[in-house]
Amino acid sequence: MQKLIQKAEKNHILNQEEIKSLLENSSIDDELFNAADRVREKYVGNEVHLRALIEFSNTCKQHCKYCGLRLENKKLDRYNIDEEIIFKFVEKAVSYGYKTVVLQSGESNSYSTEQIINIIRKIKSLNISITLSIGEKTFKEYEEYKKAGADRYLLRIETTDKDLYKKMHPEMDFENRLNCLYNLKKLNYEVGTGCLVGLPNQSLESLSNDILFFKELDADMIGIGPFIPNPNTPLKNETGGSFNLALKVMAVTRLLLPDINIPATTAMETLNSNGRIIALKSGANVVMPNATEGIYRKKYEIYPGKICVNDTPEKCSICINSKIIQIGRTISQSHGISNHFINRIK
Ligand code: 5AD
Ligand code: FES
Repeated sequence: MQKLIQKAEKNHILNQEEIKSLLENSSIDDELFNAADRVREKYVGNEVHLRALIEFSNTCKQHCKYCGLRLENKKLDRYNIDEEIIFKFVEKAVSYGYKTVVLQSGESNSYSTEQIINIIRKIKSLNISITLSIGEKTFKEYEEYKKAGADRYLLRIETTDKDLYKKMHPEMDFENRLNCLYNLKKLNYEVGTGCLVGLPNQSLESLSNDILFFKELDADMIGIGPFIPNPNTPLKNETGGSFNLALKVMAVTRLLLPDINIPATTAMETLNSNGRIIALKSGANVVMPNATEGIYRKKYEIYPGKICVNDTPEKCSICINSKIIQIGRTISQSHGISNHFINRIK
């Protein structure tokens, strides 16, 4: 087992069986996390990139079985923040020192392409990077957002297990999601994807395949988080994912994709009060602090127990900065373009 870790640390290649054996064997966890930490330091350094997350709308037309934003959830108080207010939140985020904002929403019909483009253009005037995380759109729409100035796009594949994908998203099409990811690459976005860990009946083989898919897609960013059952969804009685397994999937991902950006996800912190710091010491190099202001933060309830729902963006900024410095890492002052992307588009 130790040999496998050494091999992956050196060559960044493992096959499905090898990945699975690392995921199922608990005696090597510390070696795995330490190896991922070394690879992180060697390829992407000690800087932590911060992305200010603005959850600008919780309306959604989709039906993902695990997600609290799903259309069928009538218990959620829906909101769509106006363009001017979104811009105000972005300006505030910039005043806290953030160089990138992530605009996230459900897969909403509430904003026209033109409105999204206007928001992007306005934000670009502040000289920061923009990541969009607004779901499956057409090639044309992705192209227009890119032309307006969007730099990055996050679209998790969620699972590469086609049967499980169908069960989790009966109305969605796995092939279309793949297409979206390849379209985003074609359009020269920095592309982020990722998966959920601990979905009902998700096997270690399928998680191993997810990691191999990240490599095949040649993604620039990978976000991995445990599935947390939401009481207002059909999966309310399921067990949910474990922090440790999510951390292991993330660490193996770092071994195989050494120069990408990997966030320490909020869902990890929901299961472990020091989760993001542990993730930063096990392969992650990005944090996405919440920069949604006021009443909206609480209403963006994808899963229960979300951290910092009663905090302000200012408090989160100070809090996460000090935690990062305490573990001997530095806060990046750049836009944080992934080394992988820089090498990929050369
Ligand atoms: N638990 C954890 N993560 C979830 N997401 C959606 N629902 C849940 C849940 N119940 C994740 C999805 C999505 C991201 C924005 O949130 O992976 O891509
Ligand atoms: Fe929000 Fe710590 S990051 S209070």
